[in-house]
Amino acid sequence: DSGRLHAVRGEIVHFLADPAERGAAALEHFADGLLILRDGHVAECGPAAELLARLPPEAAVADRRGMLIMPGFIDTHVHYPQTDIIASHGEELLDWLTRYTFPAERRFEDPAHAAEVAGFFCDELLRNGTTTAMAFATVHAASVDALFEAARLRRMRLITGKVLMDRNCPDFLRDDAGLGVEASRRLIERWHGRDRLLYALTPRFAPTSTPAQMQAAGRLFAEHPGVYLQSHVAENRAEVDWVAQLYPAARSYLDVYEHYRQLGPRSIYAHCIWLDDADRARMAATGTAVSFCPTSNLFLGSGLFDLAAAQAHGLRVGLGTDVGGGTSFSMLATLNEAYKVLRLNGQDLSPEQAFYLATLGGARSLYLDGRIGNFSAGREADFVVLDPSATALLARRNATAATLVERLFLLMMLGDDRCVAETWVLGQAAWRRDAANP
Ligand code: GUN
Ligand code: ZN
Repeated sequence: DSGRLHAVRGEIVHFLADPAERGAAALEHFADGLLILRDGHVAECGPAAELLARLPPEAAVADRRGMLIMPGFIDTHVHYPQTDIIASHGEELLDWLTRYTFPAERRFEDPAHAAEVAGFFCDELLRNGTTTAMAFATVHAASVDALFEAARLRRMRLITGKVLMDRNCPDFLRDDAGLGVEASRRLIERWHGRDRLLYALTPRFAPTSTPAQMQAAGRLFAEHPGVYLQSHVAENRAEVDWVAQLYPAARSYLDVYEHYRQLGPRSIYAHCIWLDDADRARMAATGTAVSFCPTSNLFLGSGLFDLAAAQAHGLRVGLGTDVGGGTSFSMLATLNEAYKVLRLNGQDLSPEQAFYLATLGGARSLYLDGRIGNFSAGREADFVVLDPSATALLARRNATAATLVERLFLLMMLGDDRCVAETWVLGQAAWRRDAANP
């Protein structure tokens, strides 16, 4: 039970700051560490030798020496209704939406389908070491209920919301400005702030909302402090051109969202590839965050995210899988592709920066770093127990890795869900690899 004082022992890595700003001092590493838990929260984190000496003898210690313990991964952009169209072949964004996405989302008219997919989705997150996600649902209010319910049962911290979409989409997925607002209001009242659940207003992207709906979404965002807003911006060149036609008065695609008061703290935009520095400056000034979705950007051929430019502007950046445009639920696989995207852009992604983005960076972009993202005392005890030698190749390669940074790089380049030995939520094991594969 989570109330008792208990602890987990192993190699611990977490971040106190952004390595891009603070260098090596950003990372805290205990080769033989102890994470002490109380009531589902972090009581203390430090060297095992020192902490064990003053741990009360009745406190149970789970011995995970040989494993790497890190804060739970944070996926800042994912579509749960697209679980069943992951790896659908052959299209760029706009055709992919029409051919695969909209038909898949139609099935969420059926609440039983929504509940089944939501359960699988949450289990899949946990199986991959992801303890918090910011997820799109569909236009159907019951799809939001289903995901919140699935996350609540698993005690996960999760952000989602009903898609707002009232034009340029099939009739079977279209709401209207007034109904969308009313449904969103009811969902906020029902779910926002209940347990660990938070609501996000979810205008799909500027092309699928009328100006009236964009206005209404911005007004709701302004009226509900603490509520989130999630959308997409500047993912694909054809999409950018389309937005310029639909909103001819806007300076840029991002400017459409600013015009409708959809930027600000707790507003998160996926992709942000085809931005200029004026856009980045507005995102920084308003506290708007970026979700970098490398597997999706490569899979859909969307383009290469410019992390250096985002960092130069001081933007909050997290990572997203963007399943089903993305090709993996694994944040390790996502880091692998992030590294390659940045190489193609002539940039580096250090292992420290990578794991920061997957943990504390994500928490900061969601304005949740006071609750999750590292092992500071008082944080919610969501963490992942990683097996650094989960595969024959990792074991072989790890044998010649001299430093922590080398081992972290191996994990992100060669690792995936096979490396996730356990995932803990609020101080309790919520997923165990060996229980699933005895
Ligand atoms: N832009 C608007 N909708 C979507 C979506 O479902 N996935 C992605 N990747 N981009 C979008
Ligand atoms: Zn998306």
